[in-house]
Amino acid sequence: MNKKTGFKLLSLLLVLSLLFSMPFAASANTGDEIVPDGSITRVNVTIYGDSKTSRGFSWATKKNSGSDVMLYAIDAEGNPISEVKYYSGKSNSFMGYIYHKVVAADLEPGTMYAYRVGDKAAGKWSDLGTFKTDDGDDKFSFIAIADVQASSEKNFQFASKVLEAGYRTLPEAEFFMSAGDFVNDCTNEEWEWLFKSFKNIFMNTTAVPIAGNHDGNLKWHWFENQFNLKKGAGCDGITGVYYSFDYGNAHITVLNSNDMYPMSEQQVNWLQNDINKSDAKWKILVMHRPFYSAGKNVNKPDTMIMRDRLLPIVEKLNIDLIIAGHDHMYYRSKSVKNGKVVPTETITEVYKGVETVFEVNPAGVTHILPNTAGTKRYSVNQKAVSPILDIAAVASQPGLSMFSTFEIDGDRLVYKAYTVDVDNGGTVELYDQYAILKTVPGSAVEGWEDLDTNPSNNLFKNIANFFKHFTQVIFSYLKMLASR
Ligand SMILES: [Fe+2]
Repeated sequence: MNKKTGFKLLSLLLVLSLLFSMPFAASANTGDEIVPDGSITRVNVTIYGDSKTSRGFSWATKKNSGSDVMLYAIDAEGNPISEVKYYSGKSNSFMGYIYHKVVAADLEPGTMYAYRVGDKAAGKWSDLGTFKTDDGDDKFSFIAIADVQASSEKNFQFASKVLEAGYRTLPEAEFFMSAGDFVNDCTNEEWEWLFKSFKNIFMNTTAVPIAGNHDGNLKWHWFENQFNLKKGAGCDGITGVYYSFDYGNAHITVLNSNDMYPMSEQQVNWLQNDINKSDAKWKILVMHRPFYSAGKNVNKPDTMIMRDRLLPIVEKLNIDLIIAGHDHMYYRSKSVKNGKVVPTETITEVYKGVETVFEVNPAGVTHILPNTAGTKRYSVNQKAVSPILDIAAVASQPGLSMFSTFEIDGDRLVYKAYTVDVDNGGTVELYDQYAILKTVPGSAVEGWEDLDTNPSNNLFKNIANFFKHFTQVIFSYLKMLASR
C-alpha cells in the first residue's frame, strides 16, 4: 500500500468513525474567566415565525435570573415613539450557563425598536440594542457570511471586522445570515468570544443563524441553546435547527445539514412541505454543507450524501439560490439543474446607476459559497468531482476574507461578493456579481398535501435511509478513489 492510498483509507476510516461516533461531553472550560457572575451575555435577536411582527430573543447568564425583555418603538434619531412593553419567557440550564428565551409576537411591521433583555423584578438590564421589523414590501437586502470557525479571540475579532465591513457597504441590510461554523471546538470560551466580538452587530440587527458541523454535530443542543428559533415540524434540535420564514417577497428556508446521517425523513419531508406550500416570488435555501463547492471537503462522503441523495429532491422545489459554507472558498455556479448548465438569456440594464447584466428567468439553481469571513481558507481543489468545476461561474480562493450582499427589489435580485483586507485597513473590493430578473410569479404546488414529519413515525424510515444512503455514498466514494 503506498502512502497516498494509506492516507485515503485512513480518511475513510476517520469519516466512518465520525458517522458512527457518539456525542462527547463539553469542555471543562465554563467561560468563568470571561464572564463575571451576574453579567448578561450572548444577547441576540432572531426572526421567530413572522418577520413582520415577531422576534426571538436569547441571552445567557451565569446565575438564575428572570427572562424578560423590554422594548419600545423608536424614530430615526432613536427617540422613543411608543410606550414601553414587557415580555417574559423561560430559561434552562445548559453546560454551566442559564439560557433565556423570550418571544415578542405583537410587533408593528416596518418599525425600528430599541430593547433591553434582563430581569424585570431585579431591575437588571442589558445594554440597549435595536432591530427593525420587516415592512412586508418586496424590497429588502441582507448580508451573508460563512465559516467564522475561530478558536482564538483575535480571530473572532478579525471575522467581526468582515461583517462590519459588510454593514458599512450595505447599511440598509435588514438582517445577516451566517452559513454555519460560528465556532471551532464548540466550547463556552469560543461562544463567549463570538458574542463578545460580534456584540455590536448581534445586538443591533436580526441574525439568521445556520448550524454548522462545528456548532453541534458532535456536541448536542449547543446551537439550539444559543439562539431562539421557531423550529420546523419534527425538528428535535439535537444537532441544530431547521426553520423558515418569509421576508418581503422571499421565502427563506434554513436546513440543518448535521441532520443528514441518516438523511432524516422528517427534515426532508418538512423541507418539501415548506417550499412547496410557499407562493413567494423568491425561494432561497441556506445550509452549512454545500451541494457544489470546490474546497478540500468537496469529495468527502458527508458532502456526497448531500449532493447525491438530497440535491435531486431539492432541484424539484423551484429554488432560485442556495447559499452554503463549510468549504472555506469562493464558489458561484452558473444556473444549473441535474449537473448541467441551463442556458439563460440575459439583458443589460442600468440598476442603481450601475450597468448590470441580469439573467432572465433562469430555469436552474445558482449555488453560492460566500467564502470564509474568518482566517481559515481552503484553496481550489482541482480534483473536485465532476461536474463541479465545469458548472462554476467562479471557483477561487482570493486569499482574503469575504462577505456577500443580496438586494431584492421586486422582480430583480442583485448579488455581490466582496473581499475585505482586514490586515490592511479593511479595504473592501467588489469581487463578483450576479443578477436575476424574474418576471414569472412565485407559486405554491397546487394540491400539495403535507408529508409526514412526525419523528416517531419516521424512525424505521430513518434507519432504512441510513443504510440506503450510506451504502450508496460509500460505494460512490470508493469508486471515485479507485478512479484516481
Ligand atoms: Fe464546516
